[in-house]
Amino acid sequence: MLSRHFFTLAATVAATLTLGALPAAAQGSLNVYCSAQVEWCQAAANAFAKETGIRVNMSQKGSGEVLAQIRAEAQNPRGDVWYGGTGDPHLQMAEDKLSAVYRSPMLDQLHDWARKQAEQSGYRTVGIYAGAMGFGYNPELLGKRNIAAPACWKDLLDARFKGEIQMANPQSSGTAYVMIATMVQLMGEDQAFDYLKGLHRNVNAYPRSGTGPIKSVARGETGVSISFVHDAVTERLGGFPVQYVVPCEGTGYEIGSMSIVAGARNERNAKRFYDWALSPAAQQIGAEAKSFQTPSNRNTPIPAEAPKMDQIKLIDYDFAKYGSSDERRRLIERWDREVNSLPR
Ligand code: G6P
Repeated sequence: MLSRHFFTLAATVAATLTLGALPAAAQGSLNVYCSAQVEWCQAAANAFAKETGIRVNMSQKGSGEVLAQIRAEAQNPRGDVWYGGTGDPHLQMAEDKLSAVYRSPMLDQLHDWARKQAEQSGYRTVGIYAGAMGFGYNPELLGKRNIAAPACWKDLLDARFKGEIQMANPQSSGTAYVMIATMVQLMGEDQAFDYLKGLHRNVNAYPRSGTGPIKSVARGETGVSISFVHDAVTERLGGFPVQYVVPCEGTGYEIGSMSIVAGARNERNAKRFYDWALSPAAQQIGAEAKSFQTPSNRNTPIPAEAPKMDQIKLIDYDFAKYGSSDERRRLIERWDREVNSLPR
């Protein structure tokens, strides 16, 4: 699968050398772990390599998977920057001092929510985009089965959705963890786990990747997904019959983040990438690659296709609490023990 491959961009770099520029090799390299959509990861790596002459090795994985990998490599770090993915595991990484402190000169240009992510972590991470959680659904498939689309979280427990819903697995996917943390904040923890157990009866699969469920909706393999709503826009623009809904009770959101790995071998290049990734020019690559989050630099235009965050009923997501190491680990373990183990 493309997303699992490392790809090297030396060829692009070589093609763009200008007179008097240093050879690409002298610029060194950069190893980026990326948890945004693979098309965006690839486009960002290409653009940065082209602009700087730095050879970029990029690998795409879910947020939970990258955090586990960085932890496993802590004694001998292989990655330099973690780019994208939900903010909670980046905060956990910061708390566990697996990320380096860096105060980018770009911080002043960011929206408050993105700067707050940096302040809260002691400048070990920063917000690069925001996106709201909701449902994606396939109107053709639901229509054929005579199933009315969901409007609220409570609708997903209805028997009409038996075997029709997918959400990702929170052990590998940051998206799925945001959903669990959202339910806990909306309902209180015990009620949220009752809800998740009820939902489990209607779920047909928990794919590894946060975008797995919406891609299944697009292909007509499942009627409904629990997804970031901007990921539904990507599929719709890809020509698939996909609509999205923001749940009536209100919903959670992510602050997609970026961190430099503590002890990174290519720290100078990592800082250069970090500053670049916070610039409006770099942030527009997301929309060009059909990713429609709200960018964190105040001067980056918000793509017209992006769901309007100020019109969505958002909860006051407690990032400090739900991004803390103990809480995140505990909730995921509880989900695995009490929900994932139940028969369907
Ligand atoms: C998609 C979304 C991002 C999100 C990411 C999380 O790429 O577009 O906004 O941060 O998924 O991925 P994960 O696999 O960790 O749920």
